[in-house]
Amino acid sequence: STVYLKDYLPPEFLIDQVMLWFDLDETETRVRSRLELRRNPAAQSRSPDLRLHGEQLELISLSLDGQPVAPAGYLQDDEGLTVRQVPDQFVLESEVRILPQQNTALEGLYKSGGLFCTQCEAEGFRKITWYLDRPDVMSRFTTTICADKQRYPVLLSNGNPSDTVELEDGRHRITWTDPFPKPAYLFALVAGDLRAIEDSHTTPSGREVTLRIYVEPENIDKCDHAMASLKRAMAWDEQQYGREYDLDIYMIVAVNDFNMGAMENKGLNIFNSKFVLASPATATDRDFQGIESVIAHEYFHNWTGNRITCRDWFQLSLKEGLTVFRDQEFSADMGSRGVKRIEDVRLLRAHQFAEDAGPMAHPVRPDSYMEINNFYTVTVYEKGAEVVRMQANLLGPEAFRGGTDLYFERFDGQAVTTDDFVQCMADAGQRDLGQFKRWYSQAGTPELTIQGVYDAAQQTYTLTVEQHCPATPGQPDKEPFLIPLAVGLLDDRGTDLALRLAGDSDPGPTTRMLEISEPRQQFVFEQVPVAPVPSLLRGFSAPVKVRFDYSNEQLMFLMAHDSDGFSRWDAAQTLAQRILLQLVDDPDSLVPEGFVQAFRQALQDSASDPALLAEVLTLPAESYLGDQMAEVDVEGIHRAREQLKTLLASELKTELLAVYRDNEVTGEYRPDADAIGRRSLRNLALGYLMQLEDQAIQALCIAQYRAGNNMTDVITALSLLADRDIPETAELLEGFYQQWRDDPLVLDKWFSLQAMSKRPDTLERVKGLLDHPAFSIANPNKVRSLIGAFCSGNPVRFHAADGAGYRFLSDRVLELDQLNPQVAARMVRLMTRWQRYDPARQRLMQTQLERILHTSGVSRDVYEIVSKSLEHA
Ligand code: ARG
Ligand code: ZN
Repeated sequence: STVYLKDYLPPEFLIDQVMLWFDLDETETRVRSRLELRRNPAAQSRSPDLRLHGEQLELISLSLDGQPVAPAGYLQDDEGLTVRQVPDQFVLESEVRILPQQNTALEGLYKSGGLFCTQCEAEGFRKITWYLDRPDVMSRFTTTICADKQRYPVLLSNGNPSDTVELEDGRHRITWTDPFPKPAYLFALVAGDLRAIEDSHTTPSGREVTLRIYVEPENIDKCDHAMASLKRAMAWDEQQYGREYDLDIYMIVAVNDFNMGAMENKGLNIFNSKFVLASPATATDRDFQGIESVIAHEYFHNWTGNRITCRDWFQLSLKEGLTVFRDQEFSADMGSRGVKRIEDVRLLRAHQFAEDAGPMAHPVRPDSYMEINNFYTVTVYEKGAEVVRMQANLLGPEAFRGGTDLYFERFDGQAVTTDDFVQCMADAGQRDLGQFKRWYSQAGTPELTIQGVYDAAQQTYTLTVEQHCPATPGQPDKEPFLIPLAVGLLDDRGTDLALRLAGDSDPGPTTRMLEISEPRQQFVFEQVPVAPVPSLLRGFSAPVKVRFDYSNEQLMFLMAHDSDGFSRWDAAQTLAQRILLQLVDDPDSLVPEGFVQAFRQALQDSASDPALLAEVLTLPAESYLGDQMAEVDVEGIHRAREQLKTLLASELKTELLAVYRDNEVTGEYRPDADAIGRRSLRNLALGYLMQLEDQAIQALCIAQYRAGNNMTDVITALSLLADRDIPETAELLEGFYQQWRDDPLVLDKWFSLQAMSKRPDTLERVKGLLDHPAFSIANPNKVRSLIGAFCSGNPVRFHAADGAGYRFLSDRVLELDQLNPQVAARMVRLMTRWQRYDPARQRLMQTQLERILHTSGVSRDVYEIVSKSLEHA
């Protein structure tokens, strides 16, 4: 049951109009549909029958052009319905029974607490009614909802509402009409007892749009940040891309049970409540930023996803990569651009590079899948965004904007491909991007090996760049990529040189976008007065790894002087990584004095941006360090990282205490870039200081916990305390629970910090927390915050040598797979990079993976991940 891109065929039928009637009820829901179908003139095949998708539907009635279809005229199976011998144009009406209250997969129509809600992307609509559930079938939807008025006073769907009609027996009814043709994955319905905050936005063309955020009554005071974010996103898209909203109403609904972050349904976004609700007391700086970015992401989808959608699911990155790129740029403009870039690169390197190097590696445009839900990956999203960013780098800002303008003009209202997008860029940039398209079709992270040679006599500096991309499953050999490589050269005082390449008439700018297209290339810079230190891949101009043989001194020089903030940070990371890996090999190896000195200088530099400084002073994560080793040394890495942190803390105690003191943020909580930066630096300093096991510092940490007027400071302090066997810890954890027992999002943090504790008995505690009344395996946020946090955020405990962590995860995966295959498949991924470990751990993980694979009734979602991870042994 593998689906291949090469097998794509246009649909045989189109649907011009859909009318839906929902009768919502506690015991069962009835869905009536009326589809106006006709043959697709562009179809390349013609069968006499109509084949519709549909799963878990109980058929009540079926008629064609008003006549009941006889039993011999149709055939129902597990995946759909075949209607035999249909005319070229007709109306098909059906009625089905579904059971949303039993839908634990959270796909299709389901209940979250007392609410009815939907999640149709990618293929959930087929669990609601019979349909051509594929993104290239776009239709106009009219949706009528009928439900008990008291339990479900609010009834929502896409588009514009009619008046509500009161019915007898306490029910009411409303009809929503969406004037824009859309694929079924953008359909949405919500019913429940909801409150809303309302605002409005006037677009440049003068449309007044009503903005509403719906939440459960107790959360009505936590929506302001989401609303403000939405308004900023709307204004930004108008300004930056010339895109404005196209309906009279834009609605967002927050629900507690949601598989992913949020969903861009036309005019009716449905969100995981984690990405809507915030107050200073309950949400961290990170939460505030996450809300702003996800609200923007879903809003931006209205043009990049909804108005122009995907031809098929292989093209997922057409909307996701582009929309992530747009939300990244939005966040960069709203906060600190430099810090945002570092955060995005850190995430890409930690997760996407790992994915690209493992058994699940796939191209940004995959060429096959078993279960499409398994391809909502960091590769499709984040690498996809980098692929868009590279096109912006190659074209420059004006031509790039010309390319997006052309894209919106050419393809509005259509379902298209990533090739169509690149063609717009090629046309706007007036250049061929044929080679560039390999970024969409070839998996793997390219590696650039770079050498620099200075010729004092000729005053030239020659960079030799070689590219190579490792094999990935199914792709042993790769063709060379077109890679934009931003470089600068620093002179001996750390000043950027004006760059002059052979053949240039004038010296150019100080950063140059070199285009790497061959396996090996040379670039000769002329009139270079001194041997320079090269600054490579400035701004992370391409998602590649760079190998350059820097000395420690050169890295410290870049750390201190590079004009590119990203490259300063990157030099610090490279140096820290080098030192840490040496400590893994030999705990007695010496930490270069210059490194401690560089940290000292950075801490004392009062002119530097606290947020950037916090990034520079953050050591590479354990999992990332593991990725740099031939074989992951779980314990060695943990020990080395703790060792270096403790060393820095003791050497720099005075400076860290000064930073802690000087960066206190007073006054009312505000999640602006400046305050966020100061809090993050201050909390980072506290983290180092807590390494010292010093009672005065522990008292400081407890005081911060008690005094904190914002969740960022409170949760940081509590996490640091939870790492240690301090007498107060148990009491503080219990107090925190009692304080927040009615706030599920805050409790998620409480679960996570315990799951990520460095204490040796963490797995036992996590097992205990599974039985805690506030935990529920049916809620994806709880699963992620307890099980996910332990298995991905606590490598040294998860990878315990006795295999207890692996057994724990596979037990949970099997339990979860019965309820929610999508989330189970996410969790099982955490064990799929088993080949990176020592033979004993490999065997332990393999045993668990095989046990899962051979469990009867395992979902297609989990099966695909586990079988692929075992296949490439
Ligand atoms: N399109 C949504 C977003 O990125 C993600 C929905 C994915 N859902 C899923 N079940 N695969 O904004
Ligand atoms: Zn998206």
